[in-house]
Amino acid sequence: MKTAITDRIKYIGVDDTDLDLFESQYIIPNGISYNSYLIEDEKIAIIDTVDSRKSDEWLPMVESALNGRTPDYIVVQHMEPDHAGSISHLAERYPSMQIVASARAIQMLPQFFHAADFSARTIAVKEGDTLSLGAHTLQFFMAPMVHWPEVMVTYEQSEKILFSADGFGKFGALSHDEEWACEARRYYFNICGKYGAQVQALLKKAATLDIAQICPLHGPVLSENLGYYIGLYDTWSSYRPETEGVFIAYASIHGGTAQVAHTFADMLRSKGVKVSIADLSRDDMAEAVEDAFKYDRLVVAAASYDGDVFPVMHDFLHHLKIKSYQKRKVGIIENGSWAPSAGRVMRAMLEQMKEVEIVEPMVTIRSRMNPSDLPALEALAEAMK
Ligand code: FEO
Repeated sequence: MKTAITDRIKYIGVDDTDLDLFESQYIIPNGISYNSYLIEDEKIAIIDTVDSRKSDEWLPMVESALNGRTPDYIVVQHMEPDHAGSISHLAERYPSMQIVASARAIQMLPQFFHAADFSARTIAVKEGDTLSLGAHTLQFFMAPMVHWPEVMVTYEQSEKILFSADGFGKFGALSHDEEWACEARRYYFNICGKYGAQVQALLKKAATLDIAQICPLHGPVLSENLGYYIGLYDTWSSYRPETEGVFIAYASIHGGTAQVAHTFADMLRSKGVKVSIADLSRDDMAEAVEDAFKYDRLVVAAASYDGDVFPVMHDFLHHLKIKSYQKRKVGIIENGSWAPSAGRVMRAMLEQMKEVEIVEPMVTIRSRMNPSDLPALEALAEAMK
C-alpha cells in the first residue's frame, strides 16, 4: 500500500490481522484495514480515525505524517467504533483540533465518549456544505444508512477524490493482496445489504461528481477503472443478481439432506446450470448470504427439527430477511423422518420476502433419499434450470 494518494493526501490507516471476528460476527481470514487519511494544506484535515484496538499504532503514524504540524480538523464520516474509536485519543492530543461531522454524528459523540466534552469544538455540516483547507476544498454529502444514520461522505474538489465511508469497502488487510470483488461483495451484502435504496441514492449523488479516486474506510484506494466498481455497487444495491446460476444452501443433521443437496446439484449441472453449494453448519454464513444475493436462483434444503426447521437454516433465512433478500426464484427441499416440518417453516419465512417466487414442486425426503424421490427432484431441477 502506497501511503501517498496524491502529493498532499496521505493514507494513514492501519491493518488489523488478529481480530477474531469483525463486528463480533464475520470471519476475516485475511484481516481488515481501518483506513484514515490526512490532507495537508494551509489547514490540515484528518478523515476518520481507527478502531481503538489500533490507537497505539495509529497515533504515532499521525504524528509522523503531520511532521510537526497540528491538525485543524478531524472529519468524522461515521461513528461506528471501527472508525470513530480513536477520536477521544486524537482530540486529547490536539486540543485545538475541531470535529467536523453531521449533526446526527455530533449527537452520538457523547454516547460513545462519556468522559469527554467535545461540545465547544464541533462543526456540524449538512448536505453540500464546503470546508476550505486552502487549495483543497472538502464538500460533504449525507449518506444516511450507508451504513448508519449519521454517515456522510466527503468529496475533495481540487483533486476529485471521494472519501466514501463504508461504501466500496471490503474485508481483507491491505497487506494481503487479493481480488477486490469477492470480499467486497461479502462485506457489502452482510453490512449494507439492507440499505439498497440508500446506496442507490448515494450513487446518484456520486454520479454528479467528477471522481478520480475513491478512498473508502476499509480496503484499497480505488484509482482506476472506477466504472467497474460503481457498476457492481449499482447491481448489488438494486438487488439485481450478478450471476446466472443456482446457489444451494443445505442444513443437514446426519448427512441425509446433504446427500440430497449434492445429488440435486449434480442434476442441475447435468442440465448445464452453474451451481454453488454450501453446508450451512460448516461453511461461512456470511459467504452463504453473499452467494444467495450473487446468484439469480436459490434452493434451500433442510432437515426438520423440533417441529420447525434445523436451526442453521432458520438462521440463514433470518439473515436473508433482515438483509432485504428479494427478486429471486427459490426452490425448497425438506427432510423429515416422522413429521416433516422444515418445508412449511422455510416457505413461511420466504413468503415474507419481497418478490420471492417459490418454485414448485417442493420436494419431501424421508430420512434418506430413495430412488422413488428422483422424479420429484428431477421435476424441481427442470423448474429451476
Ligand atoms: Fe466500517 Fe460501519 O463501519
